[in-house]
Amino acid sequence: GGAPGGAPRGLDFEPVAPNTVDAVTVSPGYRSQVVIRWGDPVVPGAPEFDFENQSAVAQAGQFGYNNDFCGLVPLRRGGGESYLMFNNHEYTIEPLMFRGYDAENPTEEQVRIGIEAHGLSVLVVERDRRTGQITPVPDKTYNRRYSGSAEFVVDGPAAGSDLLKTSADETGTVVLGTLNNCAGGVTPWGTFLTGEENVNQYFANAAAVTDPAGQERAARYGLTKGASERKWERFDPRFDIAQEPNEPNRFGWIVEVDPYDPKARPVKHTALGRFKHEGANIRLTRNGHAVAYMGDDERFEYVYKFVSDKAMKNGNSRRDREHNRSLLASGTLYVARFTGDSPPAEIDGTGTLPADHAFDGGGEWIRLASGDESFVDGMTAEEVYVFTRLAADRVGATKMDRPEDVEPHPHTGKVYLALTNNTDRGKAGAARTAPADEPNPRTVNTHGHVIELVEAGNDATATTFGWSILLLCGDPNDPATYFGGSDKSQVSPISSPDNIAFDGHGNLWLATDSGRALGINDGLYGVSLEGPTRGRTTLFATVPVGAECCGPVIGDEFVLISAQHPGDLDDASPEAPASLFPDGPGSQPRPSVVNIWREGDDGGPGRIGQ
Ligand code: FEO
Ligand code: CA
Ligand code: CA
Ligand code: CA
Repeated sequence: GGAPGGAPRGLDFEPVAPNTVDAVTVSPGYRSQVVIRWGDPVVPGAPEFDFENQSAVAQAGQFGYNNDFCGLVPLRRGGGESYLMFNNHEYTIEPLMFRGYDAENPTEEQVRIGIEAHGLSVLVVERDRRTGQITPVPDKTYNRRYSGSAEFVVDGPAAGSDLLKTSADETGTVVLGTLNNCAGGVTPWGTFLTGEENVNQYFANAAAVTDPAGQERAARYGLTKGASERKWERFDPRFDIAQEPNEPNRFGWIVEVDPYDPKARPVKHTALGRFKHEGANIRLTRNGHAVAYMGDDERFEYVYKFVSDKAMKNGNSRRDREHNRSLLASGTLYVARFTGDSPPAEIDGTGTLPADHAFDGGGEWIRLASGDESFVDGMTAEEVYVFTRLAADRVGATKMDRPEDVEPHPHTGKVYLALTNNTDRGKAGAARTAPADEPNPRTVNTHGHVIELVEAGNDATATTFGWSILLLCGDPNDPATYFGGSDKSQVSPISSPDNIAFDGHGNLWLATDSGRALGINDGLYGVSLEGPTRGRTTLFATVPVGAECCGPVIGDEFVLISAQHPGDLDDASPEAPASLFPDGPGSQPRPSVVNIWREGDDGGPGRIGQ
């Protein structure tokens, strides 16, 4: 690779043909293997998975459902190549998990299994350098689950707020459980961040809220007036807003876990605001301050950043680690306003480039709050942190097409924004809508786009930035697509970019969540960012029927992906599974972490993309 006109460095592989196969499909010369799947033991001593006889007690020690984000940090252990692997378990799909599931009348055991199948997993994995295989290790020290019932500490300016107090926690500082964790990030200080996303769906009876301010807040956060989808409120009153009006305020945060310190309680960081957090990814300033970039993944929601007050310590002592785990507890929270530089009349909603040949412009980061100080008229700092969406509405932030991963490039500092899609953009009659604008230039944006954002002076603490659209996704034969100006005959079709990662060469990687908008399975794409191939997408792997591809980890010699919700098609059930991934005939579909590597010339693993 690397030759003029050839593949960029690290992206020299044959593209996978778009397909609808019920398997993980990889580029020729590559191999794949399941590392761990729903129900496999995480905590040593947990029982092996038994689909027909699952229990909450078993699930509490097993790998949860619908693993989304995946992160790895190195672990020194023996002579082999070991890592601590972190996975989050976004949500459960009861009709695929239980035979004969009655959505109107779930049993208490089904509810308890559902709660335990949510949350987070930390486990040791070992990679065999000779074969390329990665296997879980039943490690007693590090392996653990944090489920929907584990204990989390709240920190930051809204910790202890009246808005977070419940009858079980009069301090407003200790929450049971984490829910709907979607994407995440690995911090420079070796912890994992994960975002609580669509947490509204777990709470029932918002109709009990009668004061106008409370009703506005409940509506803005999408709380359900009646029964919840999973009916957890029937067995646990904290999910009943009529009984515990503040419980929903204790979800929708960025969570931090220190994989190296099993005794450290995981934390919910209120300083990073409360919304449908997709994830958070950190860039350090020259002085060691941590800047977290974040998206709120819903149609017409916003992009945020947080700048820490304190600087990271480089040591690895217990005190240094404790200090670094407090970095996200105090700082300043901002929301983004984007401005286009082309005349609005040239943005016609079709995706046709304006006269300056670019969807681009400038923007500013608008301060929302810092510590106890609010910068939003009519809202206290606590209110800004707990009801961040309402604060962002008031300052005129830009409504985006579902901001998912927002991630800084580790070498250049440029920030990449995955805007998954927004079929309500410019749509008459939609409950919430807004016209196309330069940063979201397509009406009924089915396939999403990717923005590249450059901070003023390349300083992560800057309050202004420039931006341009790198990709308008879709079928390259569709004229309303744009691939960084690269040759469209060389790109793979792509829809609904969701998760972002980077490789050691500086290439961008995108995992998709399209719901088959192009009639093809989701997958993982390598994307060139430099030179004449800038914007070229190359399909590296695809996931099974009904699955979404997420969690990518791009190593030098392996790639990890999450095959989330395989078999999740309408009318699928254990009697008629829509996927048999990963275990084949006679089995049920199980969300999994998949390892992909290249067979090198000597039979052992080779370098990815070379
Ligand atoms: Fe859980 Fe925004 O995807
Ligand atoms: Ca322009
Ligand atoms: Ca996602
Ligand atoms: Ca990512």
